[in-house]
Amino acid sequence: MGSSFPGSISTLLDELPKETWYGSYLYNWEGFWYRGHHLSAAMAARSNFRANDSDVFLASSMKTGTTWLKAIIPRIMNPDVRITNDDDPLLKHHPNELMPSLEVQLFIANPNPDLSGMSSPRLFRTHVPFPMLPESVKNSACKIVYITREPKDTFVSSWHFMNSAITARGIDPWPMDEAFGTFCRGIHAFGPFHDHVLGYWKESRKRPEKIHFMRYEDMKKEPREELQKLACFLGKPFERDEDVDKVLWRCSLERLKNLEVNRHGVDPSLGIGYKHYFRRGIVGDWKNYFTGEMQQKLDLITAVKFEGSGLDF
Ligand code: A3P
Repeated sequence: MGSSFPGSISTLLDELPKETWYGSYLYNWEGFWYRGHHLSAAMAARSNFRANDSDVFLASSMKTGTTWLKAIIPRIMNPDVRITNDDDPLLKHHPNELMPSLEVQLFIANPNPDLSGMSSPRLFRTHVPFPMLPESVKNSACKIVYITREPKDTFVSSWHFMNSAITARGIDPWPMDEAFGTFCRGIHAFGPFHDHVLGYWKESRKRPEKIHFMRYEDMKKEPREELQKLACFLGKPFERDEDVDKVLWRCSLERLKNLEVNRHGVDPSLGIGYKHYFRRGIVGDWKNYFTGEMQQKLDLITAVKFEGSGLDF
């Protein structure tokens, strides 16, 4: 997917700054980097998508723990206590299918897809940076949940994932030093990573009732508390602690990575096995890959970028 574009987007892409990224190109549009077909879909969504007040959006930069929340949010929004392990939708569906992506799924093949068949509340996810969201998403009463992750771990996770994606297409893996240099220059799908985080962070501080800002590390450290906060934000607080634990278990990495659908299913958007969405899921995995120099460099970039924002890791 992504090699042939309608005439107008092809012409636009020819004029945009571009950089090599994991065997293909990213294009810079209004300060952020996109794969060509994602940019075209994000533009279509920006023009044609109309949010409903009851919609819920999960926004993130890639590899920050989105899949975890893609599994959790549908469970919070549909708190059917009668659901049993046997009819859990996660048994048959990768979490991607429970919260479709605006730019990777819905608006990619058709610039104006018919979404009328979606049941309410509609649940969506997106990687687009805050400024690129459709205006109705920013201005309606729909809710946005944003999740981010420590930048070094995010980079390591994306390096593994993207190399799995490209090697499945017969492309050589991208050496870590080259991928790292590019990430540090801000070149990252839907990035610069730090700008992506800052965009949602600043908005969440202005409108906490609209944007709930989460960190992967907090979810790992205090999952019960984080889940209850998320559920309250979404207007669906848990009434019983045991329901919190049930959702956490159903959506746990250990369970999801061993489900048949995720062990053997294939992601139609990327053509890679769903198993690649579930790796180690630990905090601090960067220590297994980074030199001291890499650590210093990315920590400095993070400190400079986030200085004065009230955000740190
Ligand atoms: P690692 O590559 O560090 O293992 P995303 O879902 O945004 O693509 O992020 C992927 C990261 O989240 C991967 O991290 C993956 O292992 C981890 N992950 C996926 N599902 C998870 C879950 N249910 N619980 C915790 N972490 C999960």
